[in-house]
Amino acid sequence: MQKRLLKWYEKYGRHALPWRKTTNIYHIYLSEIMLQQTQVNRVRDEYYPQFLAKFPTLKALAEAKEEEVIAAWSGLGYYSRARNLHKTAKLCQDALPKSYEELLKLPGIGSYTASAICAFGYHQNIVVLDTNIKRVIKRYCALLNPNEKTLNQAAEKILNDKEPRAHNLALMDLGSMLCTPKNPQCSLCPLASECQGKEEPELYTQTKKTAYEAMDLFFGVYIKDEKIALVKTEGSMYKGMLALPEVDPLEENYITSFKHAYTKYRLTVKLYRIDEAPKEPQWIAFDEIESAPLSSLVKKALAKLV
Ligand code: ADE
Repeated sequence: MQKRLLKWYEKYGRHALPWRKTTNIYHIYLSEIMLQQTQVNRVRDEYYPQFLAKFPTLKALAEAKEEEVIAAWSGLGYYSRARNLHKTAKLCQDALPKSYEELLKLPGIGSYTASAICAFGYHQNIVVLDTNIKRVIKRYCALLNPNEKTLNQAAEKILNDKEPRAHNLALMDLGSMLCTPKNPQCSLCPLASECQGKEEPELYTQTKKTAYEAMDLFFGVYIKDEKIALVKTEGSMYKGMLALPEVDPLEENYITSFKHAYTKYRLTVKLYRIDEAPKEPQWIAFDEIESAPLSSLVKKALAKLV
């Protein structure tokens, strides 16, 4: 089974992904953090190369200001990931630790990321369980709603201790390319002959729906000399970034509204004229909006105003 899996991976695997072609542990770590909530193609084409151009080493990241790091993360969302990345860089400076237990102690590194760094970066003999690999294991071993321990044990049983890196990457690609949640392509799968779940593959697909939360946000718009007043946000999910000031809605000053999805929130954003500039305004010209380090939400709002 292990041989067939690796052969399949050799032929069809996504070897060209830049973080699979490097041995740089910091680059591998960065890719895993970015890939947690962002699509592979967007990370590969935009965010990963741009971030590394600004912060090519862990040391360069450690020496940067938090604002610069957040700015380089703009558009990716989940800004706590950027803050934790920066904290971890400052704690480690030159190199990330080599053990799973030490990695787990660092800000923003959970069991998935620690195991991915160990397997993909350090070639350690360790099971990696992301959503794709979990689905493959559940089907292959016919496990209905297993807990983490059961999944881990099942994955360990088939782990290839001579090629742990390729083995885990192969399972990941199998999950994303063939063993998909809907309509898996079992006829092309190298593991089909002994797969216990192939009769009813969708039985093993988790359908736990994310609980979305509806929320209204009210922003104030103050424009002077073709420039718009922004403020530094505090204590919100966009902490540290520039945004429109939050205001109490005043119906007669209503301008427009739009919908925006961010993490678990389904936001309705409403814009209102305000008669006074907010405290400590940061002025941004209309022609600077595109290139400014702003969240997608703020860019969308500003696009409504130009
Ligand atoms: N290669 C290594 N880690 C990966 C991930 N999290 N997603 C896609 N490809 C990867």
